[in-house]
Amino acid sequence: MSDRLFIFDTTLRDGEQVPGCQLNTVEKIQVAKQLEILGVDVIEAGFPISSPGDFNSVIEISKAVTWPTICALTRAVEKDIDVAADALKYAKRKRIHTGIGTSESHIRYKFNSTPEEIIERAVAAVKYAKRYVEDVEFYAEDAGRTDNEYLARVVEAVVKAGATVVNIPDTTGFRIPNEYGEKIKYLMEHVDDLSAGKAILSTHCHNDLGMATANTIAGAINGARQVEVTINGIGERAGNTSLEEIAMIFKTHPDLGIETNINTTKIYQTSRMVSSLMNMPVQPNKAIVGKNAFAHSSGIHQDGVLKNVKTYEIMDPKEVGIDDNAIVLTARSGRAALKHRLHVLGVEMEGEKLDRTYQEFLKLADKKKEVNDDDILVLAGADRAVSHSVKLDFLQVTSGLGTRPVASIGLDIAGEKFEAAASGNGPVDAAIKALKVIIKREMTLKEFTIQAINKGSDDVAKVHMQVEYDGSVYYGFGAGTDIVTASVEAYIDCINKFRK
Ligand code: KIV
Ligand code: ZN
Repeated sequence: MSDRLFIFDTTLRDGEQVPGCQLNTVEKIQVAKQLEILGVDVIEAGFPISSPGDFNSVIEISKAVTWPTICALTRAVEKDIDVAADALKYAKRKRIHTGIGTSESHIRYKFNSTPEEIIERAVAAVKYAKRYVEDVEFYAEDAGRTDNEYLARVVEAVVKAGATVVNIPDTTGFRIPNEYGEKIKYLMEHVDDLSAGKAILSTHCHNDLGMATANTIAGAINGARQVEVTINGIGERAGNTSLEEIAMIFKTHPDLGIETNINTTKIYQTSRMVSSLMNMPVQPNKAIVGKNAFAHSSGIHQDGVLKNVKTYEIMDPKEVGIDDNAIVLTARSGRAALKHRLHVLGVEMEGEKLDRTYQEFLKLADKKKEVNDDDILVLAGADRAVSHSVKLDFLQVTSGLGTRPVASIGLDIAGEKFEAAASGNGPVDAAIKALKVIIKREMTLKEFTIQAINKGSDDVAKVHMQVEYDGSVYYGFGAGTDIVTASVEAYIDCINKFRK
């Protein structure tokens, strides 16, 4: 009999902290419903006191989702806990996730406190949260760098106060797998209430040194029974442990005696949905969900795979939901076919929004013979630009060998029309200079990446940009078969963000 490992997904809380990846409530509900289909046990839906948007998202996700536990984050502060409890009022299963820093530097510099006082505050927060909900998780922030003996005292105290789960975050991603595994083992051996089954330990590993997955596996092997993960491993800095890696590691290694509830065939579509909604590309060589994860390009590999797939493949791509025979839509596909494909990709669309997306789909299908899943997700996301106050009206660019590129641009700013022209070092430079003639602000392009979705000169390109304005960096996205227009759309997306 295998041990059940609970999957706690924090894509919508820790994952969403990535600058530029913020989702609106409707998009968060879409992700939460997909996480339910995927089979996660706990969805961390937000940090309700942090903003009215987060508060509202926790409420709406609680209403939309049926069986996973909905969790809300708080600091060890009564007001945070009151607000989290209020946000969770519609959840069928609810959990408050409260906590405080326990490492020497957190105690001394962040809280100007003492180890004993921190334990008192931790216990008080857990007891206070217990007034509202039965299921209380406590996090010992920076547990990775907290002395094990002291950490065991913290864990013992919060479990006695009623915590059902204790989270041991490697907040800075500093630990190496044997150290993190040892930490979990130490706690399992030194806190009697853990071995007595009164609470479980949870891992929460960050990927600063590329060891989040390895540390999480070490934690689970040494007794943790919950793991905190995100789709595609997204999260601040180098990200969090990725859900898909954990699910597939335990699936391909039944000898470890640990199983999860994840329906792995839903992994790929969930990964694509999150990437598309957050405008966060998945690196091609990303384990499990990267574009190249199952592509065998070397001659030796191809020969082996053709003779027997097991020669080089340790997983069947179908197990993670990658289907080579996936239907490709063309200009002859109807609205119903598009609606169905969107549904398969986890996007529910009806009425006017579907009509608009279908019109965009037909335009794209005219330019490109086959429209694939990534294209469709880009089209589904493009609808977000409808609410922008700055819109691209037209763009004309002349460039080529022996000429200085020139661009003329038309913008619609809250219904008013503006036009300008400029020349530049290249077509994108010319177009952005023309744009700046209209938008007279001190803006600096910090990063600019163009990524082709598939292959072929007719492919859709995704453009990601970062623009600095007034001391902050804004992230923008554009997509289309014309890379100059897609680049200008990405720049305008940034402008719309700082105009808010
Ligand atoms: O990384 C961390 O320590 C966290 C806690 C707030 C759980 O995200
Ligand atoms: Zn974290």
